[in-house]
Amino acid sequence: MSGIVYYFTGTGNSLAIARDIAETINAELISISSVVENETVKTDADMIGIIFPVYHQGIPYIIKRFVNKMVNLDKKYVFGVCTYGDSPGISLEYLDKAIKSKGGRLSAGYGVRMPYNYLTPSFVIKDFFNSFGLREITIEKQQKMFNDWDKKLEGIKEDLQSRKIGKLETQAKIIEKLVDFLNLRETLQKTVWLKIARFEGYTNLSFVESLQLMDSAFNCDERCNGCGICSKICPVKNIKMVEGRPLWQHHCEQCFACLQWCPKETVQFRNGTMCGKRYHHPKVKLSDMLSQGECS
Ligand SMILES: Cc1cc2nc3c(=O)[nH]c(=O)nc-3n(C[C@H](O)[C@H](O)[C@H](O)COP(=O)(O)O)c2cc1C
Ligand code: SF4
Ligand code: SF4
Repeated sequence: MSGIVYYFTGTGNSLAIARDIAETINAELISISSVVENETVKTDADMIGIIFPVYHQGIPYIIKRFVNKMVNLDKKYVFGVCTYGDSPGISLEYLDKAIKSKGGRLSAGYGVRMPYNYLTPSFVIKDFFNSFGLREITIEKQQKMFNDWDKKLEGIKEDLQSRKIGKLETQAKIIEKLVDFLNLRETLQKTVWLKIARFEGYTNLSFVESLQLMDSAFNCDERCNGCGICSKICPVKNIKMVEGRPLWQHHCEQCFACLQWCPKETVQFRNGTMCGKRYHHPKVKLSDMLSQGECS
């Protein structure tokens, strides 16, 4: 019996979780961005883990593309772990749906609360669309989440060893279910987020795909020293260095790695992130992040 754990991460939360799980079940650890451009994703392992961050109550676009490339899933034990800041939402249901469309099923799915790494409205500035900044989580609160994870890992280990089936840790507040039912993600939510990103124009991409265009809000100022870390860390090679400055190429995953890991803290989303404290998981190093995009 062999296992493989695939992960995607922007600020290291999902990588830290993936590493712990891979070590616990003695599985190989592979980054999703290193295989997602392959024609197919094949593995001989009979236990497959998929670890990812929750994006907008759902799954990141790269996870959708990755699962679409997977083959021979029918007899495999596939489990998922989403990391989230507020709620796992219905991301594991989306993952299950994607896996089912490839002939498999999500045997078990877990949610792990971790420090929130994305935009949050401040409600201080009158201009709502320009009010989004970073949320600061105190070191004490972060540590509590990490300690809770250590405890939760024990339970997951037992479940995986006994190949437990059927557990899906979704947390769909009525409003999230309603949003899904009324298809508001594709209408209202898409329009609002593209406006927050200052995207001008119209796109018929689905909501999840349209996040790729939200890099129109990224910019950097004269503090940029041209080190190129943002370009190297981007898991989908969405940043070109042009005359020593980053230029975003509109196939972004919104993982926020470029903003959170810039050593000069000069990458901003509009200008709402100017004073926000940057975050990454304390056990994940820049070198771990830089190897995420290397092809397997
Ligand atoms: C684009 C984006 C959207 C997000 N949406 C949600 C969300 O809907 N609910 C939530 O609880 N957390 C949300 N988050 C927070 C992340 O899921 C959370 O911080 C996660 O642990 C980050 O994982 P990472 O460090 O592996 O990238 C979002 C983060 C990003 C970047
Ligand atoms: S990581 Fe920051 S300082 Fe380095 S090139 Fe990118 S924006 Fe400039
Ligand atoms: S451009 Fe930035 S936010 Fe977008 S995928 Fe690359 S690193 Fe992530």
